[in-house]
Amino acid sequence: MKLWYPYKQMKDLGQVPVMVAGQGTQMMLEDGRKLTDGISSWWAVIHGYNHPDINNALVDQINSFSHVMLGGLSHPPALALADKLVEISPAGLNHVFYSDSGSVGVEVALKMALQFWKNTGHTGKTKIISLRNGYHGDTFKAMEVGDDSDFSNAFVDVLHRGYFLDTPSGGFDADAPTIQKEAAKLEALLQAHSQEIACFILEPIVQCAGGFRIYSPLYLKAARTLCDQYNVLLVLDEVATGFGRTGKLFAADHANITPDIMIVGKALTAGYMGHAATLATTRIFNGFLGESYDKALMHGPTFMGNPLATTVALKSIEIIERDHYITRIAAINALIRDEFSKIASTAIADKRVVGAIGAIEVKEESMMVGFRDFAMANGAWLRPIGKVMYVMPAYIITDEELIHLIGIMRDWISRIYANG
Ligand SMILES: Cc1ncc(COP(=O)(O)O)c(C=O)c1O
Repeated sequence: MKLWYPYKQMKDLGQVPVMVAGQGTQMMLEDGRKLTDGISSWWAVIHGYNHPDINNALVDQINSFSHVMLGGLSHPPALALADKLVEISPAGLNHVFYSDSGSVGVEVALKMALQFWKNTGHTGKTKIISLRNGYHGDTFKAMEVGDDSDFSNAFVDVLHRGYFLDTPSGGFDADAPTIQKEAAKLEALLQAHSQEIACFILEPIVQCAGGFRIYSPLYLKAARTLCDQYNVLLVLDEVATGFGRTGKLFAADHANITPDIMIVGKALTAGYMGHAATLATTRIFNGFLGESYDKALMHGPTFMGNPLATTVALKSIEIIERDHYITRIAAINALIRDEFSKIASTAIADKRVVGAIGAIEVKEESMMVGFRDFAMANGAWLRPIGKVMYVMPAYIITDEELIHLIGIMRDWISRIYANG
């Protein structure tokens, strides 16, 4: 096999389906089968495949120019997207740094946080706090702030770990005493170690790759307050949650907070190509100003701000606003809740829903073996993560398609039950 696939023991590769065309939520395979995409291609393809408005915007840009370096040069889509991201993101995030993937966006965010303290004379602040079950990407610093998992196990010996806190308990609607207890753990850590801590990075509201674990916006609020109090930066990784996935445009909006640094990726470019943006407040940006070149942010991926990627992102945001996606996501949420309420089994450990995400955790990982093939046989593309099966569809999905996808999850659950 010449093509090396991700997260896969290549010895057991088996038959890999080949997609030859896409339209809306539909994936057309080489063998003539059609699948409804239930997970929007790793949560990126929010408008479905082959969107005419995005295609047309891209063609116009291709006919002008497809790439130019951002080193010492600029171009209209990169400038316009920076304006747009500043306009729609939490107030105070006034500066935008582009890169080419979510992982690299996280690297940039961590570099910003670490260098900010160095530039401002706080040389000891070199450690990072993150959450258990977190995932921030596959590059080295991103792995360091992610929890131990299959994604990073091979590299534990070379990772320089910082501090980890447990995923806040109580879910989205956690009560005040639960939040106080969780916030107290953060405060205890900050009290003891804030002198050496640069930032606290977390996936706001929902930890996706770590199993779709949902926690309360009140925890985010508390984290904001405590980080300010102890002079630690708050970094929100919105790579998975950004652009409506949790029901608000950004998950930070549930808590009405502004992080010091925020990363967006995935849905930023609607699955057309890889790109990310790391946004920062003026306080952070100003920390890089000065007479010395050493104070500048030393990062610059070749394809940062690529004209095609920034054109797609602009068009994608225009569609989100024009087609009232936040209202549609609320309807998707209601439908997922309704359909999930019809699924019951002793095989289920938990059901979790937020925004346009619906996850069902079963009791044993072995219960998920064969689920992908079962979904395919029933006309859907659904892939579990560990013990969790989930839907995270394109926002253009129809009610019928969504009911079909959840029906497949329900049927799989009843098979587990039937098989004891
Ligand atoms: C929260 C989060 N951060 C970062 C990443 C890494 O993004 P990418 O795969 O584009 O490098 C992911 C990918 O799943 C993610 O979910």
